[in-house]
Amino acid sequence: MTYRICLLPGDGIGPDVIGCTEQVLRALPLNLDFVRAEIGFGAYQSFGTPLPDTTLEEIRCSSATLFGAVTTPPAIPGYFSPVVRMRQSLELYANLRPCESIPHPSSRADIDLIIVRENTEGLYSGIERLEEDGNRAITERVITRKGSERIIRKAFDLARQTKRKSVHVVHKANVLRQSCGLFRSVALEIAKEYPEITMHEMLVDTCAMELVREPEQFEVIVTTNLFGDILSDEACMFVGGLGVAASGNIGMNAAVFEPVHGSAPNLVGTGKANPVAAFLAAAMMLDYLDEGESAARLRSAVNNCIANGESAPDLGGRLTTSQVTERVIRRLSRNPKSSRSIPAGPDFGNDKEQT
Ligand code: NAI
Ligand code: MG
Repeated sequence: MTYRICLLPGDGIGPDVIGCTEQVLRALPLNLDFVRAEIGFGAYQSFGTPLPDTTLEEIRCSSATLFGAVTTPPAIPGYFSPVVRMRQSLELYANLRPCESIPHPSSRADIDLIIVRENTEGLYSGIERLEEDGNRAITERVITRKGSERIIRKAFDLARQTKRKSVHVVHKANVLRQSCGLFRSVALEIAKEYPEITMHEMLVDTCAMELVREPEQFEVIVTTNLFGDILSDEACMFVGGLGVAASGNIGMNAAVFEPVHGSAPNLVGTGKANPVAAFLAAAMMLDYLDEGESAARLRSAVNNCIANGESAPDLGGRLTTSQVTERVIRRLSRNPKSSRSIPAGPDFGNDKEQT
């Protein structure tokens, strides 16, 4: 099978880490056709928009997309977040953030958690206004039954497929009685369809505290947009930090995988950007494409490099971005070790035809 992979390098270190990831993917025994499309501040300067329609079209007609990062410029009237717009335009409703221990002293040992964040509504619904001559600002928090059902079902399906035994549904229904109340009641209904999985409820502030106290207790966390944004950044710090944190934005008809970090303007041109977060985003993409063996091989190569100190400076190593890439490619030819993959793809109703 030949896959069409759309690359969105973006701004800052985005083009560096996506270029390295393309090299790594080319070293695997897969048939991949790469296309590139524009996103971010660079796209705005060239085309007058940070997210041209042609980019959305390229993503729609690709098997999967890899995105680097974008820079948010100083206040420009009419500018919008291309990342939020991309997620909403393509209905990429599930943001998956795995947090798994890495073989490095900065990582805690027994963490294997996936955060499943609702990605299209909640406080990021984009419905905002100013009243009283600009002295009263309102943002609407929109939670729908449809949006809650699909994200909660995604979390329970993921738990079932990865043989995890529990799902934590995180909300603040004691205060946000309507919006979190709906999310919670939908979760209670859906949990009944998964008798083998234990559902725990947790208030978001308790969850933030418990993540610091004992992150090992969590297997799957499902929550609304803003809560998930915050908790997932918090959780990635226990397992190596931003240089190794990856995520996937999954919809019914498209999927975009990305490192969690931003465009890191302070690292541009230094060779210090860790490309591993982008490599692990590519591994998630391979799982989505049902190429689990290649995904496992890539994760194993990355972990072997980390365990041997072949790392970028953020993990205490001395290698540059391209040297880390070379080492990972060198290790790709060795035997794969099994690793638990995240089957975000076919079983999740991805009925997209591969080209
Ligand atoms: P950032 O994630 O770019 O950087 C935060 C810190 O982490 C910096 O010290 C940076 O040097 C370090 N870092 C980031 N990526 C790294 C890597 N691969 N290897 C080693 N160290 C790494 O976040 P920051 O500085 O808050 O934002 C910079 C720009 O990125 C802003 O314009 C922001 O809006 C944008 N941004 C974009 C995101 C996206 O495209 N999804 C996400 C977060 C921020
Ligand atoms: Mg974030």
